[in-house]
Amino acid sequence: MSDFVRVARVSEILPGTGKEVTVGDRVLAVYNVDGNFHVVDGICPHAGGPLGEGGLHENIVTCPWHGWQFDVTTGQHCLTPQIRQECFVCRVEGDDLLVELPEM
Ligand code: FES
Repeated sequence: MSDFVRVARVSEILPGTGKEVTVGDRVLAVYNVDGNFHVVDGICPHAGGPLGEGGLHENIVTCPWHGWQFDVTTGQHCLTPQIRQECFVCRVEGDDLLVELPEM
């Protein structure tokens, strides 16, 4: 069972930027890559850095704490194949960005 939950306004996440959002006890990172939205687990697996606050270049985010980089479209760490952030399905409805979350 899963639900789509509103997590942000589309208009507040411009192309080429990201945002950290909190839903319940989950921290998510939301990115706008050329008008397409992507959502990954917002906690960096290295040491807990805020991936939603990282700089976004095309589809690559750089963690602001120590520079680990991830492809936000897949969650894949750029250097280490074994590290992949959880990704979430999202959709746009009007100005709302909805994310599908497992049962909370
Ligand atoms: S916490 Fe993200 S690179 Fe260290």
